[in-house]
Amino acid sequence: MVPVATDQRGIDMTQRAEDGPNAQQAEYWNDVSGRRWVEMGDVIDAQIAPLGRTAMERAGIEPGERIVDVGCGCGQTTLELAARVGEKGRVLGLDISQPMLESARDRAAREGTKQVSFEQADAQTHEFEAGTFDLLFSRFGVMFFSSPAEAFANLRSALRPGGRLTFIAWQEPNKNPWMILPAMAAFKHLPAPESPPDPTAPGPFAFADPERVEGILREAGFQDVGLEALERDLLVGGGRPLDETVEFLAQLGPAGAALREASPELRQTVMREIHDAITSYQVDDGIRMPSATWIASARNPG
Ligand SMILES: C[S@@+](CC[C@H](N)C(=O)[O-])C[C@H]1O[C@@H](n2cnc3c(N)ncnc32)[C@H](O)[C@@H]1O
Repeated sequence: MVPVATDQRGIDMTQRAEDGPNAQQAEYWNDVSGRRWVEMGDVIDAQIAPLGRTAMERAGIEPGERIVDVGCGCGQTTLELAARVGEKGRVLGLDISQPMLESARDRAAREGTKQVSFEQADAQTHEFEAGTFDLLFSRFGVMFFSSPAEAFANLRSALRPGGRLTFIAWQEPNKNPWMILPAMAAFKHLPAPESPPDPTAPGPFAFADPERVEGILREAGFQDVGLEALERDLLVGGGRPLDETVEFLAQLGPAGAALREASPELRQTVMREIHDAITSYQVDDGIRMPSATWIASARNPG
């Protein structure tokens, strides 16, 4: 049983995040989506762990370092970071989602990892212990801020002078067919949005434009900003059979959000289309589809 996260004044952080500048995201990640991520955690981790590991290698983590894992979700990266810093290090997993943090805390307790702690908060507004961390890390947890420059300036306040930032974020949808083909299958059968979606709105593809990301990080006060393009095939669904992978894809990301209220018949139709769209990617060990990400790095002056 995980206690409700409260701040020093005993105010429920969930409540505050839901009233704050990222209220919509707080609701999204605390409701069905957060619970789905918990249920599908092992599959998601199997699919994206190699990307997170590459980002960790770029971060040049040393034993004894203090790290914040931003938008840590169910904690797989938090625990992997903890293994890298060892018992003399410290890793704080920060997330807005209570159900995902509950899963992360259970995982840490099962593994007996002492050098991790978790906190429920909005990274954009959370009052960090200033200047204490060596590294801000994130695997796909920083594209959901209503005001990204403000959020990164706030995150930078947690870094010691000369501290580093490394995160991985998705490039444009067309370069990530594993996420966009299921979404296209779903939207074919749903009413079109009244106006075209804003590509910079909080969501998985908000950081697709590298110039925008560089601008955000500079505006937030970071130096030595760099983005590395990483293009890799992903084992979508972590190597599950085709039908299970279709089920998984229909629940995740934009497709999952679009299908939340769908009738069972509509869901079946979309799943058949997802099946047809991904079947040509089937290889011996599962479904392998291209992915494209940015690994961003930057430094706090000083
Ligand atoms: C795509 S998931 C990635 C989770 C995890 N990093 C992983 O790789 O499995 C995005 C995560 O960011 C968290 N998140 C979104 N907005 C946030 C905010 N403003 N502050 C803290 N966490 C946030 C969500 O709750 C979610 O856990």
